[in-house]
Order: sequence, then C-alpha cells, then structure tokens
Amino acid sequence: MALDTIHLTVDLGERSYPIIIGSGILADAALLRQHIGDGQVLLVSNETIAPLYLDALTSALGAEGGEAKDGGAKDSIVLPDGEQYKQMATIEMIFDALMDKRHNRSTTLVALGGGVVGDMTGFAAASYQRGVKFVQIPTTLLAQVDSSVGGKTGINHPRGKNMIGAFHQPVAVLIDTQTLSTLPPREFQAGLAEVIKYGLICDDDFFVWLEKNIDKLMRRDSEALQYAIARSCENKAKVVAADEREGGIRAILNLGHTFGHAIETATQYKVWLHGEAVGFGMLMALDLSRRLGLLAESDVQRGEALIEAAGLPINPPAGLPDADGMIELMGMDKKVLNGQLRLVLLRAIGDAFIADDVGIEILKQTLNDYLNRTA
Ligand code: NAD
Ligand code: GLY
Repeated sequence: MALDTIHLTVDLGERSYPIIIGSGILADAALLRQHIGDGQVLLVSNETIAPLYLDALTSALGAEGGEAKDGGAKDSIVLPDGEQYKQMATIEMIFDALMDKRHNRSTTLVALGGGVVGDMTGFAAASYQRGVKFVQIPTTLLAQVDSSVGGKTGINHPRGKNMIGAFHQPVAVLIDTQTLSTLPPREFQAGLAEVIKYGLICDDDFFVWLEKNIDKLMRRDSEALQYAIARSCENKAKVVAADEREGGIRAILNLGHTFGHAIETATQYKVWLHGEAVGFGMLMALDLSRRLGLLAESDVQRGEALIEAAGLPINPPAGLPDADGMIELMGMDKKVLNGQLRLVLLRAIGDAFIADDVGIEILKQTLNDYLNRTA
C-alpha cells in the first residue's frame, strides 16, 4: 500500500516553510514545480548523487538549460563529492555557474544531496546577490532529519568546521525517502544517531518507539522510516521555531556534538563519520548526566543499547588523546561561551538542558572511562 505523503511546517512567521516527506517525490513533477517554481533554477548536486537522481529532477522541471513557462532556464552544476570540498573554492564554482548562466535575484537554488551539498547550496543562496531562494532535497538520512531543516548553512575553514556561514532558511524541504535505498549502510547508520538524538533530547515517547522499531529501521522498512523521519523533522521544526538563531534552547540539538567534534578533530575527520562520533558523544553525555546525579543508570543503559542496535560504535576509535587532550579539543568548539565549556546534558530521556557549570574533574572521569573502553 502506498504511504500518504506527510506535510509539516517550520513555523517562522513570514519565513515559514513546508517539509514534505514521501516516497517517490522526485517523480512528482507537479509537486516539484509547485515548490521550486517556474523561474530560473540552478540545481546543485555532486558527482555521486547526480548520476542517480539529477535526471529525474531535471526532467520533472523541464529540460536542462530549457525554457520554463516564464522563460526561466533549468541549469545544473555537479560538485566534487566529499567534506573536504565543503570550502570556498567549491562555493565559487556555484557562483561561477550562476554568473555564467546570468541568474538574477529571482533565481532559486536547489540542493540535491546530503548535508555537504545542502550546507554549501544554502550558503551560496544566502550570499548570491545578497540572498536568493533555495529548496532542500536531502538524500541522506542525516540531511533528511537534521541538516536540511533549520537554515544553518556554511562551509569549513582550514582551521575549523562550519566556521563560515549564515542562517538562511529554505523555502521548502522536499524529502523523497526512496533516495535512501542507495545510501551506503554506514551513512544510513550515522543518520540514525541524529534520529536517536531527538528521542533523547525532547521526545521520550519517540525514544520508546525507536527501541521497539529499531530492527525495522535497520531493514529500511519504508513505513517505519517515513514515520521516524517525520517525527524527527517535527521535533527539529519545534526547536527551530522556538529559537531560530541558537540564542538558547536550539543548542540542545547539539547533544553529544562537543564530544563528537573533539573525536573528529583528533582523528582529522578520517576515521569516523559525523553521526558515529555524535553517537559515541551521546554515550558520554549520558554518562556525565548520570555522574552528576541527574540521570538513572538504567536510562544510560537504554541509550547505549539503542545506539548499539543502530550499528553505531560504542567503543572509541584508535588515536584519541587522553582526557586532558580531549578537553582542550572540546574547548575549541564553537559552543564555548565566554571561556566556559557548555554541554548538553539530560535530566531524563526526553529532557535535555544546557549546562555551563560542569566541573572539569567529573568530566575527566567520564572521558577516562570512555576513552579506555575496549571491545
Ligand atoms: P554527505 O553530504 O557527505 O553525504 C554522505 C555521502 O553519501 C556522500 O558521499 C554523498 O555523496 C553520498 N550520498 C548522499 N546521498 C546519497 C544517496 N541517496 N545514495 C548514495 N549516496 C548518497 O554527508 P551527510 O552526512 O549527509 O552530511 C554531513 C554534513 O552535514 C557535514 O558537513 C555537517 O557539517 C553538515 N550538517 C549540517 C547541519 C545543519 O544544520 N546545517 C546539521 C548536521 C550536519
Ligand atoms: N544541527 C544542529 C542545528 O541545526 O542547530
């Protein structure tokens, strides 16, 4: 039985936008045209995703370079694939394509890809002619549940990840769950870390649902997947609507990320995917919450069981520094405020908060335990 398409809204006043989640959206020309429009369009993808899905999109919108109803050409650019290309030189490739094809201020950029393509396309849209429209068509699980929603766009600087960027909301997020059929297993599992994150930070019922349905998700059961993506987006949309620019509560979306970024930096982003590092970081955040007397041991165990069932690592990678070295790397993170390390902790499953007074000695106990874990 075909599943109904799910429609959600990110409620941001005049900048509100829909999130549409369904199977086969890339074949739905009417829906794509409704949200992307008939004017000038630049489709941005990468060399892995373009051969799989770009043709479907261009034919739904009208031939490549061809004229739409109001004379707007549908152009495309295919970027190199990889986090190492999330940088200024690649953004310039997008600007060059826009200039070459004479795109004006009413153009729409469309990101067809994972978080890397989405973040770069969004940043190009935020800055081209001081800001043009963009649509997200995310094709990884991580992008479908996290990076495509909320308007964080940007690129890396050689000295720091996501250091250059802008808040720029898309005008629509169109999620075709069928694209996940080609996603490699490790990438899929890394996306599950962000799905589990929503249960942990703000949705204990969803966490229970995940405990019951993780096997279905691992089999990529289409009904379970659509539900998990929609519920994740719903949670993200609520947090973003409450705090668009991360003045406060939005930071709970970073559960596990300060630990995770330290792991990624220590291993030069070469060993673990982001979601894998976030999964292990969430284990440490749960443990620290328990040590501080906030969280029951049984909840720490439930968190670990779910993260392990999602195929994510529960032991550290080789090559990490000791606890002091990790704390130094954690101090480099963007989430440091006035020299104090801010961490997202849990009072219960589904109840996260931001702590900026965590003692270094107790943090070291968690780090020592988790850094010395062996399989
Ligand atoms: P990614 O974009 O690098 O995609 C992972 C790999 O999967 C790539 O090789 C990609 O080409 C490939 N791929 C994508 N879709 C595919 C498909 N359907 N079939 C086969 N292969 C496919 O990685 P990601 O995990 O999607 O995103 C990570 C990026 O997202 C990071 O740069 C991170 O900083 C960013 N991010 C941004 C936000 C935000 O709020 N803006 C949130 C989280 C992460
Ligand atoms: N991924 C964290 C955020 O969007 O704020």
